Amino acid sequence: AAPLRVALLGGGTVGGSVVRMLLEQADDLEQRIGRRLEIVGIAVRRAGRDRSDLGVDPGLITTDAQELVTRADIVVELIGGIEPARGLILRAMEHGASVVTANKALLAEDGASLHAAAIDRGVDLYYEASVAGAIPILRPIRDSLAGDSINRVIGIVNGTTNFVLDAMDTTGAGLFETVERAQSLGYAEADPTADVEGFDAAAKAAILSSLAFHSSVGTEDVHREGITGVGARDIQAAQDMGCTVKLLAICEKVETPDGTGISARVHPAMIPLTHPLASVREAYNAVFVEAEGAGDLMFYGQGAGGDPTASAVLGDIVAVARTRVTGGRGPGASSYAHLPVLSMGQA
Ligand code: NDP
Ligand code: HSE
Repeated sequence: AAPLRVALLGGGTVGGSVVRMLLEQADDLEQRIGRRLEIVGIAVRRAGRDRSDLGVDPGLITTDAQELVTRADIVVELIGGIEPARGLILRAMEHGASVVTANKALLAEDGASLHAAAIDRGVDLYYEASVAGAIPILRPIRDSLAGDSINRVIGIVNGTTNFVLDAMDTTGAGLFETVERAQSLGYAEADPTADVEGFDAAAKAAILSSLAFHSSVGTEDVHREGITGVGARDIQAAQDMGCTVKLLAICEKVETPDGTGISARVHPAMIPLTHPLASVREAYNAVFVEAEGAGDLMFYGQGAGGDPTASAVLGDIVAVARTRVTGGRGPGASSYAHLPVLSMGQA
């Protein structure tokens, strides 16, 4: 059968890692999907730059994303921001492509209409990487917990601010120098204001709330306060009380006189050192989910950076590719059939 054609929009921090992992794992992915994945193009903004680090035929690099999305089975949007990402995703769907994206800003602004477009066109829209980097959190909420009732989701969902607060706490470093380090490590958004002012975490809180509470919550519905107001004196005061400062996203069902509603907010909070969230260091993230039947669940892992985020993107690529090949009928027992089974003691 012909390979599935994969078009990448963006070849930056995340896009570069996705390309490398697609190439390195091509044979394994083919086994798992039942069809080979072929990169048919990588759209970038700036023409004429050296792209040898992507390790692909230079002929695959294009600045014509509008054309590229018309000749792919799977479009992977890793540009970020609202436009042209939104228009390109809609155009890809119009041409029958399934879409994978890491774009929380766009999902939080326009998730409902993007989902409607995907349903209308009969294609998939997956975005696991948009919240908490490598941590599988959206599909567990959307799928695994679909039969339960979630009451609260609370977490550290921005790696940059956690990295900054951790450095302020442990080394006494200042906010701005640490943000520069987070940028050089590939954690920060193109405009790091989105991180430090809490917009990025608010977008993630909106996505988490929408999925957890089967609703449509936008960034504008989330109360937001970033970390620019946190200074050395606040860090010291927290330490004196046996606490540390973390930027938390808190999404919960609340009872009001008019009935049950949703509250979503992002703000710095002092948490005791004995609390599990206090041990979330550097750019790691953690998300607690409180559900009626399941009780408390905790998810933890790397929340930012090229490779961790690419791991989540690749998982989505495999999922949408499987839908195309097999109709997505659950986990396949044949997936690992090519690995030899070792009996006890042989390993
Ligand atoms: P980068 O800034 O590193 O890369 C963006 C890429 O998109 C670049 O290759 C850029 O081209 C390209 N691009 C920008 N505008 C256009 C355009 N108009 N047409 C075609 N290509 C364009 O971003 P990241 O890789 O860090 O982030 C990508 C997405 O992933 C964002 O939505 C971000 O929020 C999300 N994300 C990022 C994480 C991270 O840790 N970095 C973690 C989770 C999600 P050029 O190379 O020419 O500049
Ligand atoms: N800028 C984001 C962060 C990237 O620092 O968490 C991951 O979404």
